[in-house]
Amino acid sequence: MIMKKIFLSIALLLVLLFQVETNSHVNSPNLLEGCGSCHVGHGKTSEPMLAHSEEEFCYQCHGTELKQNEMKAAGKLSTSIQLTNIETEFQKTYRHPVVDGFGHSPKEQLPYASSSEINHAECVDCHNPHQRAQSSSQKYFEVSGYSLSGQYLESSVNEYEVCFKCHVDRNAVVTTSDNAFKQFSLINMSQHPVTKASTSGKSTSLTKSLGPGNIMKCSDCHTNDNPDGPKGPHGSKHRFLLSGNYDIEAVNDESPYAYEFCYSCHDRRSILSNESFPLHKEHIIGDPLKGIPGTSCFTCHASHSSQRNNHLIAFNKEAVKRDPVTNITQYNSTGLNSGSCYLSCHNHAHSPAQY
Ligand code: HEC
Ligand code: HEC
Ligand code: HEC
Ligand code: HEC
Ligand code: HEC
Ligand code: HEC
Ligand code: HEC
Repeated sequence: MIMKKIFLSIALLLVLLFQVETNSHVNSPNLLEGCGSCHVGHGKTSEPMLAHSEEEFCYQCHGTELKQNEMKAAGKLSTSIQLTNIETEFQKTYRHPVVDGFGHSPKEQLPYASSSEINHAECVDCHNPHQRAQSSSQKYFEVSGYSLSGQYLESSVNEYEVCFKCHVDRNAVVTTSDNAFKQFSLINMSQHPVTKASTSGKSTSLTKSLGPGNIMKCSDCHTNDNPDGPKGPHGSKHRFLLSGNYDIEAVNDESPYAYEFCYSCHDRRSILSNESFPLHKEHIIGDPLKGIPGTSCFTCHASHSSQRNNHLIAFNKEAVKRDPVTNITQYNSTGLNSGSCYLSCHNHAHSPAQY
């Protein structure tokens, strides 16, 4: 029995050493004690021998300067490196709840079967501590996830697969409408190109073309509000953990800040000068002379996808009601920059309205 345990430990060590040689935290010259920079003492079998638990463990090196200095003084971290402070990201209003719940293993399969467990996320749900994404090459996420077809993956390749492991309905993985699977399903009429490569790579207002054949990451939008800070969906001062502010209210005054988030990729000037939809300005700013207020992008556009319509059109049901004449709410695209709408908004019927 003991022999078996020792054998297993050696085998595991060899496997790990082999794995980490090419692509990991561990071969970093900045971790002066190698495995020992993270693992301390002799410990027991099946216990990873870490000095701190969960995020506190990572904050030793990815936390405040004070903590990093302690690791430097202990000779575990090179004095020539200054790592970004991830700890303060998790103190922001909108953040992944790493402080809640108990640890996860990178191989754990979520969502939980039981809803009594605390909904949380740990660093190691998204990062494998034995792997380091090399900034030069494509980043692989050597943690578990789900493929777009709902298949469990031990090692995710695309970032969205990691997100899918939690952002799905807990009990019925592929059935409810507001889960990430369905929102990024390939049969949707339109989507921001996250799971499906873009064909054109552009839209009229786009400030920087994505390039055909490329995809966006969830974390292109859900990331730090501070563009100079560490990237990733850790925390943001903005609602929905977005990179910028996004007002979604049906009655709203337009300003660069109100739709800062969308305007970070879609040129405000282009949108408001009606370069694509010829009635953008009339809707977004409204018509002060007639007393018609402006409305948010959210009134007409979904941010992830639209199951039924082109151009991410999915009306905000709280603001947009049925057309009283035809009794339907419908958008029809009839080619680029042309279409029609059947609906009623602030008691103004479109039966239909055409552009
Ligand atoms: C950056 C810090 C870090 C370094 C460097 C590191 N480890 Fe780990 N290791 C961890 C963490 C964190 C866990 C626990 C993972 C979890 O909670 O699932 C762990 C877990 C383990 C385990 C338990 C089994 C497992 O994979 O969960 C073994 C064995 C292990 N490490 C061996 C090593 C060896 C050998 C090295 C050096 C080649 C090494 N580690 C380097 C952070 C590190
Ligand atoms: C002992 C110090 C130490 C600990 C503990 C540690 N890291 Fe690191 N980490 C580093 C260093 C140093 C680097 C940069 C390596 C390099 O560039 O040489 C790094 C790099 C990273 C990167 C890659 C950053 C990039 O630019 O791609 C991620 C992600 C990361 N660590 C996550 C974690 C997580 C998650 C934990 C906790 C499970 C953790 N680290 C614990 C020292 C540490
Ligand atoms: C919900 C998933 C998720 C969680 C939880 C998470 N991260 Fe990240 N993190 C990411 C993603 C995605 C990126 C990479 C963004 C990119 O590709 O640029 C990232 C980037 C990083 C980086 C590199 C940032 C940079 O630009 O310098 C570090 C370091 C890091 N994470 C550490 C941590 C630590 C430590 C924790 C826990 C306290 C943690 N992460 C929790 C998803 C996560
Ligand atoms: C281990 C589980 C887990 C993983 C993996 C995960 N999340 Fe989350 N996420 C959560 C939890 C838990 C919350 C908080 C939900 C709540 O408070 O109701 C959350 C919240 C969010 C929010 C909403 C924040 C808000 O304030 O409305 C966004 C956006 C988000 N996650 C994006 C992502 C992205 C992008 C990824 C992949 C890079 C990801 N998540 C991966 C568990 C996870
Ligand atoms: C083009 C930018 C963009 C991309 C890419 C994107 N999101 Fe979002 N996401 C948003 C915006 C904007 C909102 C809030 C407004 C809304 O729901 O329309 C949001 C909302 C969310 C929420 C919170 C929902 C709620 O009601 O609280 C979660 C969770 C989320 N996104 C996860 C993801 C995941 C997972 C991915 C990748 C598979 C992703 N997002 C990709 C822009 C984006
Ligand atoms: C991180 C950059 C980024 C952000 C932020 C962003 N978009 Fe986009 N958007 C893109 C890219 C890239 C495309 C081009 C898609 C393609 O080529 O398939 C696009 C395309 C679109 C389209 C055209 C889709 C079609 O099928 O015709 C609409 C509509 C749109 N975005 C609305 C929005 C709205 C509304 C917001 C704010 C909630 C927003 N976008 C935020 C990058 C972004
Ligand atoms: C009244 C509904 C409505 C509102 C409000 C609205 N849009 Fe649109 N938008 C449309 C329609 C309809 C189209 C499709 C035009 C076409 O037929 O090609 C469109 C197209 C787009 C496109 C794709 C073409 C391009 O210019 O790149 C983007 C991006 C876009 N809208 C962004 C926004 C943003 C950002 C806001 C908020 C500041 C917004 N829209 C507000 C209805 C709306």
